[in-house]
Amino acid sequence: MSHLETTAGTAATADTSGTGNAAAITIRGLSKTFRDTRAGGTTGGEVRALDAVSLDIAAGAFVAIVGASGCGKTTLLRAIAGLETAHEGTVALDGEPVRAPGPDRGVVFQDHRLLPWLSVADNTALGLSALPAAERDERVRRALALVGLTDFAGAWPAQLSGGMAQRAAIARALAARPRALLLDEPLGALDAITRLRMQTELERIWRVEKITMVMVTHDVEEALLLGDTVVVMTPRPGRIKREHRIQLARPRDRESPVFQDLRRTLLVELELETPPPAVAGDYAI
Ligand SMILES: Nc1ncnc2c1ncn2[C@@H]1O[C@H](COP(=O)(O)OP(=O)(O)O)[C@@H](O)[C@H]1O
Ligand SMILES: [Mg+2]
Repeated sequence: MSHLETTAGTAATADTSGTGNAAAITIRGLSKTFRDTRAGGTTGGEVRALDAVSLDIAAGAFVAIVGASGCGKTTLLRAIAGLETAHEGTVALDGEPVRAPGPDRGVVFQDHRLLPWLSVADNTALGLSALPAAERDERVRRALALVGLTDFAGAWPAQLSGGMAQRAAIARALAARPRALLLDEPLGALDAITRLRMQTELERIWRVEKITMVMVTHDVEEALLLGDTVVVMTPRPGRIKREHRIQLARPRDRESPVFQDLRRTLLVELELETPPPAVAGDYAI
């Protein structure tokens, strides 16, 4: 199938044209085991959150990671962010090992994590205190314009809708001029309509910023709408089951038969849908 090129265990071909400031991310043999403390730590059980995960993310790519709850998506993203360092294997940004969080990686979580006592502009400026005031103001202005919140610079987080608060969280992450933006189910808490609008916005921001985007989602359609590559993960232990290169033109048409075929393929891989019968004649109408 020309629209879906499956690569299992091989590096995705890099298309780095026009991505001067974007970071390539290399993950090798990443494994992480948590002690299961749900029974008060008395069971001694362990959870293999990630098991030998390797992934090549080209500079400027949009990679969507899809998988059921508990398959290690957040753990993987936290490792790239440098928030989770006690693991086996390596994560590198342009070959430099990741050891801690840094301004080269912006992170957006499902909840916006804005500080309620600061205005939208001041929240956006949070990571920029080392900069001269003029440059800080310019960065905040640009980031808010990029997410469509110019008119809400002086608003309080409590005055924002869910979608606007997520825009502010994205602005805050972008203001530091990261080379990669890491998004953990950023639209997961939004209503369906706002979510559709924000998916379009994320694609636009990615196009304008030309940075690497790694987005975790449990929504197969969202992954197909936005990803150049869709990575399918499966739980217990958390592994990459498959990588799909999605070669559909943008903006993608979620009603198209090809899109729907891809969607079905991914759902089968996630074991959310039974595969179609191998022999059509088995099913009488
Ligand atoms: N801090 C932690 N302590 C114990 N277990 C954890 C911790 N963080 C994650 N886990 C477990 O690791 C597995 C993967 O978690 P996570 O990366 O959050 O998955 P996902 O984001 O795909 O839902 C889950 O079984 C989860 O319960
Ligand atoms: Mg998660």
